[in-house]
Amino acid sequence: MANLIDGKQVSATVKEQVKQETENLFQKYGKRPALAVVIVGNNPASRVYVNNKKKACEMVGFQSFEYALPEDTTQEELLELVQTLNADENINGILVQLPVPKQIDENAIINAISSEKDVDAFHPENVGKIMIGDYAFLPCTPAGVMELIHATGIEISGKKCVVIGRSNIVGKPMAMLLLHESGTVTICHSRTQDLPSVTREADILVVAIGKANFVTADMVKEGAVVIDVGMNRLENGKLCGDVNFAEVEPKASWITPVPGGVGPMTIAMLMKNTLTAFKKQNNLF
Ligand code: GUN
Repeated sequence: MANLIDGKQVSATVKEQVKQETENLFQKYGKRPALAVVIVGNNPASRVYVNNKKKACEMVGFQSFEYALPEDTTQEELLELVQTLNADENINGILVQLPVPKQIDENAIINAISSEKDVDAFHPENVGKIMIGDYAFLPCTPAGVMELIHATGIEISGKKCVVIGRSNIVGKPMAMLLLHESGTVTICHSRTQDLPSVTREADILVVAIGKANFVTADMVKEGAVVIDVGMNRLENGKLCGDVNFAEVEPKASWITPVPGGVGPMTIAMLMKNTLTAFKKQNNLF
């Protein structure tokens, strides 16, 4: 039987720290962090994520401003909004919810957001800083995973860490953060040959491929720490991760549930980044 890693509890602790610091700064300076959240179109999953981000802002004492644009928004129109938000001194963080509709080039938008307000840490300048290990903005989901691993008390240094998935948002920065803590890191993806033979070596297995129930018991080493970044909606409407929880849980030493594992952490780390942006912009360090 594995121990469950409770993402709701760990995220509540992070958000409580952010809330306390925000309140202290407000008492001292009379200002609060402000996050602009931009959503383009009607993607139902994006709507849920954006609502959750706005709720979290309220919970920690931030201001949040939503900009909801129609599905047929042009790239120029979105770029214009980003420029306006970049120039607005009352906005500390800018988040454009991805994916954007297909007429808009995602990279053009990411590149246009001021690197100082880029609370997702998607801008190439911030990605580069993560690579070097000298960074202010945390890549939200991977940083949330690191908090969950830390919560187990298990040392990462020297351990075999396997990441399944090589996206810019999760897989690649995840590997970097594990490497910064001296893990021996392997990144697997759709072209990896004999994937189970690689994943069975993992002391720490992080799964971010977006395929429901993909990781089965035969792919996991006895006693591994298993972190499931997946969030898939089944035909019956239920949410499930990339890991077959029922099969893998008896083999793992620690495992994250879905929902209630990595999901809440991403938002908690976004709050942390928005507070960092606010402090840097106001020279409050
Ligand atoms: N879409 C899915 N995850 C994310 C995220 O972390 N940030 C943004 N901006 N869009 C997303």
